[in-house]
Amino acid sequence: MNNRERIDKLNMDKSLPHPEWRELISTFSSSDREYAQNTASAITAERFGNKIFFRGIIEFSNICKNDCLYCGIRRSNRNITRYRLSEEEMLLCCGEGYRLGYRTFVLQSGEDKYRESLQFMELIRKIKAQHPDCAVTLSVGECSRDTYQEMFRSGGDRYLLRHETANREHYKKLHPPIMSLENRIRCLCDLKEIGFQTGCGMIVGTPFQTSETLAEDMEFMCDFQPAMVGIGPFLPHKDTPFAEYRAGSQELTLFLTSLVRIMLPDALIPATTALGTAAQDGRIQGVLAGCNVVMPNLSPRNVRKSYMLYDNKSGVELNAKESLNFLKEQMKSIGREVVIGRGDHRDYERNENNG
Ligand code: 5AD
Repeated sequence: MNNRERIDKLNMDKSLPHPEWRELISTFSSSDREYAQNTASAITAERFGNKIFFRGIIEFSNICKNDCLYCGIRRSNRNITRYRLSEEEMLLCCGEGYRLGYRTFVLQSGEDKYRESLQFMELIRKIKAQHPDCAVTLSVGECSRDTYQEMFRSGGDRYLLRHETANREHYKKLHPPIMSLENRIRCLCDLKEIGFQTGCGMIVGTPFQTSETLAEDMEFMCDFQPAMVGIGPFLPHKDTPFAEYRAGSQELTLFLTSLVRIMLPDALIPATTALGTAAQDGRIQGVLAGCNVVMPNLSPRNVRKSYMLYDNKSGVELNAKESLNFLKEQMKSIGREVVIGRGDHRDYERNENNG
């Protein structure tokens, strides 16, 4: 089988045998990438037309008990100012976001104990009470099943938890000893069973990653059938053990994005900030490769510099309106339209508020 045949087979079967994944990922050419992109584009156009959904991301705390070797807000980094937004500040962000047209708020943080508190559950309730036509997405890391259940009862609709890598040994090399792939997957399964639209995904180009581990990532996602998939290139952060490693490849990230679109036609796939940081037109390239979501930053400007997962993160100088307008213009330039609406995965749609 050649690579075009592999891509066609993926499109037909929505899965590939392990050796075919490995071959495809380790030997693709730029013309294979173009072929995957064209196949993915046809699927995206058929399912979503020219619509792009947008979500406002509020990075509400950079306090983290974890020590992931790639991440700039890891516990061992003493060079950042730790912050947690107040409930009032978060509600203000949502109010401003709502006026700008956002109908999904993504609450993201490090693994701050606050996320497991009754106050946090109360905050989710308040956001949903003030904006009943909005979805709340949580992205606050690993928690117990009971905590996830509480978050869902409080009104959480979606949950993003990248699996980061689906290979056990590779996972160990990226994370401190107390973290495990087993627990990560336990979390993802709990989230899905509880009823969240659940997102996973990996970083492309982390140290020690191989076409073998990437093949395992694709197979994991094929089994798990996530509603959302976040994929971005690895970008080094100066205050981490991986500071001296090279950034992940933009081409490989885009190729894998197209393959995910082909495998999971209905998935919500954001053109990530990491893609937009690695290149000026990174988000545009992401959308052309098969992404259908953008997530402009809604965090207050004064804390943005403190939420640096990697160096040179884009958008930290812009305010909420500017971030959104910048993305709207980028999308318009490639014939896409940023639409107002919750933008639920079709398996979870319940009303007409979907853009
Ligand atoms: N480069 C790229 N992505 C990163 N993330 C964290 N640190 C980095 C980095 N240095 C990603 C992880 C995490 C998400 C919020 O950000 O995949 O799940």
